Parts: sequence; structure tokens; C-alpha cells
Amino acid sequence: MKILFLDQSGKPGGAELCLIDIAKPIRDRCLVGLFADGDFRRLLEQEQIPVQVLTQQAIQVRKESGLTQGLASLGQLLPLIRNVVPIARNFDIIYANTQKALVVGAVASFLARRPLVYHLHDILSPEHFSTTNRRIAVTLANRAQLVIANSSASKQAFVAAGGREDIVEIVYNGFELNKYQIPQQESLVIRQELGLTDKFIIGHFSRLSPWKGQHILIAALAKVPEQACLILVGDALFGEQKYVQQLHTQVQELGLETRVKFLGFRHNIPQLMSACDLIAHTSTAAEPFGRVIVEAMLCGKPVVAAKAGGAMELVESGVNGFLTTPGNVEELAEVINLCIHQPEKTAMIAEHARYTASQRFDVAVINQQLARFLDKI
Ligand code: UDP
Ligand code: GLC
Repeated sequence: MKILFLDQSGKPGGAELCLIDIAKPIRDRCLVGLFADGDFRRLLEQEQIPVQVLTQQAIQVRKESGLTQGLASLGQLLPLIRNVVPIARNFDIIYANTQKALVVGAVASFLARRPLVYHLHDILSPEHFSTTNRRIAVTLANRAQLVIANSSASKQAFVAAGGREDIVEIVYNGFELNKYQIPQQESLVIRQELGLTDKFIIGHFSRLSPWKGQHILIAALAKVPEQACLILVGDALFGEQKYVQQLHTQVQELGLETRVKFLGFRHNIPQLMSACDLIAHTSTAAEPFGRVIVEAMLCGKPVVAAKAGGAMELVESGVNGFLTTPGNVEELAEVINLCIHQPEKTAMIAEHARYTASQRFDVAVINQQLARFLDKI
């Protein structure tokens, strides 16, 4: 079965990193079509996954766009659709990995007479999307043969927004387990390079964006002992420069300059995670899945996550990690304190997390599950 994947992004967000793992084992019978050029294309090429950038013009619609902006973008989508249709005829399935890819994929699926699969990486709720965008997504997704939801939370929001339950299957993200087994020596070197050898290192791994809640973690840091330091790994991928500025100002105002390091976007996530004592996920809106949470578990590191959306399917508080109320600085500070003061208990929880995560999220097993659903089409 030959698959044409479509993704709107040139940048490697979670949905794109997930697609790399899906496309890798079928690289001899797939093509990834992108609506923008960038680092994501380079990562696909590194894995020898065939990739083609289908347009040179960036498409303007954003998650919160209304109807007028949506219609205006149709002018940009039409040439793209014209490009995609003849390519799609050489494939058996069109697999849309993002919302704009769904729009293009749905029309191309109709014109090229090829079945459509939509991988839903988002929670289609008002806190994430405008009413117009939700309506468009649900209407088009309902025409697909199969919708893959990245969590039960994403599935529920889809159905609540009018999506057809009978076409949805839940498939979690899969991970290459061996990538997350980092020798202790390597993590010690990273701690030295960071200049934080004797510190309690808290890591936050995410693009810098208001709903990812880096500001909540900075506020919590001000409430815990000075030995705790924070590394913020990730960059503003979608133009959130104002938020980045706010974070730097917050750090200065709280006098935390020596305790917070902004590391920018990195490609060595397992190594950096392994150098941490605690990994925090602090999204203020429900996280659809939360790759970073699973990655932290696979590294055998304690993780604290915001109790909403997909994170609640990954973490059982006190058993394989910790959950705190989204946006609650006090609760987060309490968990940080607990991890500082009870390292043995925390290490046991982290070890349990490593075991359960490796049972649940092995990419080989997840890809088999996905293949079974695709085979039915
Ligand atoms: N990530 C990365 N480099 C960074 C920060 C994050 O490669 O500097 C990766 C991270 O390891 C994770 C993904 O980006 O696999 C983010 O996915 P997640 O599902 O956590 O959130 P999203 O950004 O997709 O909402
Ligand atoms: C999206 C979601 C994230 C999820 C990722 C992979 O980027 O925001 O929560 O982990 O897709 O499915």
C-alpha cells in the first residue's frame, strides 16, 4: 500500500516528529508532501524518507482564524490542490497529518478518488481553535475513511464537536525505545557543560508558547530552594516572540537569571532529559497527547505533568509520575520540593514509569497497530 502523507509545517513540532516514526519503516512506498520548507524536510531526508515541498508560498490561516481569513486562504490552497491531485493518483491513500493538510487532502481525495485518512493531533476545543476552524475540520474529517486520534482526549473532543465516532481509532505516538537509554557518563558530561553539576535540574522541553505554560514553571521556581535550576529547551516555532520576551522579563523580575537557562531548539532531547532531575510539563490548556511526557518516562526521569487532556492517559499521579492542576504554581512548587527532598521515592516512581512507558509506547508495536487499521481501508 502506497501512502501520500501531507503536512502543512516546515517545522518539527510533535505531529511532525510523530510522522517521521510512522513513515520511516515504509519509506520505500511513501512520499511526504509539505506545504512549507524547513528543518522538518531536513529531518525527513536524514531518515531517507522521500519528501517534496509542494508550495513556496506560506499559507496564512492560524488556529484562531475566522471565516474571512479562511476563505482568503482558499486562493493559496487551490494551486496546492492542483499540485497534489496528480501526485495522489500514484498512491493508494492520502494521509493528512495536520488541519490544513486535511483541507487539501479532502479535496484531493475527492478529485483523485483516493481514500482519506486524517491523523488528529489536536483537541478540537474552543480553547485551542476558533468555531470556524473546528467546523471545517470536523466536516472534512467526517468524509475520511479513518480518523486516527492521538489520545482518547482528542477523540472525545472530536466527537463532541460533531465528529463521527464510528471512523475514529485511537493510536498513541510510538517511540524508539533504545534512543532513550543514555549512559550515565553522557548525562554527567551534559550537566558539566551546563555548569549545573551540583544543582537539582528541572527540564522543560517544548516550543515556547503561552499555552505550554513556561511562565508557570518560572513562577514555581521562585518558590523552591535555590539549588533548583531550570533549563528551557525549545524555541518559539510559530511567531510567539512576544511571549519569549515576557519570559525573559519574568526571569529578571524574579531575580532568577543564574537559575534559568534558555537553550533554544535542540535535537538531543534524550541526552538533555537524562541530565535532568525532574522534567516538567506545564500546559495551561489540555494537551492532546504530550510526547515530552512519554520521552521523560522512557529516560527513567521523574515527570510532573498538567492534569488535563492526553496527559491524564499517560500519568497516574504518585504511581508513574505526578499530576498538578494546570496553571497552579503552588502545587507545582510542592511537587518540585517533594522530588528534591525524597529522591529515593521519586526514583522508584521514575523507574516504574520507564517500565510502563516502554510497554505501552514501543514504536514497533504502535506501527503494527496503525498498519492493521490502514489495511482495513
Ligand atoms: N522537541 C525537540 N527539540 C526541542 C524541544 C522539543 O525536538 O528543543 C521535541 C520533543 O522532544 C517532543 C516534541 O518536540 O518530541 C514536542 O512534542 P509534544 O507532543 O510534547 O508537543 P507539541 O509541541 O507537539 O504540542
Ligand atoms: C500535537 C499535540 C501534542 C501531541 C503531538 C503528537 O502537536 O499538540 O500534544 O503530542 O501532536 O501527536
